[in-house]
Amino acid sequence: MLDIGAWDGFFSFLAEGRHATQVLAIDSFQNPEDHADTPRTFALAKEALGSKVEYRHIDLMDLPVTTPPFDTVFFFGVYYHLKEPMAALEKIRSLLRPGGKLFLEGMIRLGNQPELHYFAPEEIEPTTCCAATISGLERMCQLAGFRSARMLSRTDGIKTRVWFYSTPPSRLQWGVVSLYRHLAFPSARPRAFLEVLG
Ligand SMILES: C[S@@+](CC[C@H](N)C(=O)[O-])C[C@H]1O[C@@H](n2cnc3c(N)ncnc32)[C@H](O)[C@@H]1O
Repeated sequence: MLDIGAWDGFFSFLAEGRHATQVLAIDSFQNPEDHADTPRTFALAKEALGSKVEYRHIDLMDLPVTTPPFDTVFFFGVYYHLKEPMAALEKIRSLLRPGGKLFLEGMIRLGNQPELHYFAPEEIEPTTCCAATISGLERMCQLAGFRSARMLSRTDGIKTRVWFYSTPPSRLQWGVVSLYRHLAFPSARPRAFLEVLG
């Protein structure tokens, strides 16, 4: 499998732990300041886990298509950082074996039309370029040559990390936590997780 924009390998190691036999993690370190420690933290995790995950510092668009086709591709938190997300999806399509699966996660725009919006610089932080609606992402996957795309889950723009709880919160606790999230993360944006068939 291929993990694109793997950062320090969190999802690559998770996939290996769930029996992915061969994992390639790639990242181009789009914002070098964020990645000062990434090679070290990846190496530390790899050693601690006794992992065989391979890491390559390379841009997705430069990955040779002669690389053996992948069964599964993770593309988490990346598409909206790209100026040409359609080109990236076409590239992924060429790297995926027929019948393989792409899992795509990222920021979305709300709305029912199939749209891709490019942000003005003052609208958002500098490494984010664009966001599509869910039907926009589905349309883009279709145009890139994938057979089908379906949304598996989405968040509504507030952080929903409910797995911090060992027991389900009471309604009162839940209300307090929801209010806190609204106050603390007012600018968090909606996101979606799609399964795309090659
Ligand atoms: C928001 S982070 C997501 C990290 C991880 N996938 C996750 O979901 O937690 C985006 C990552 O994609 C990488 N990236 C951006 N453009 C890329 C490209 N063209 N090729 C490879 N990696 C890229 C960035 O360097 C960064 O590490």
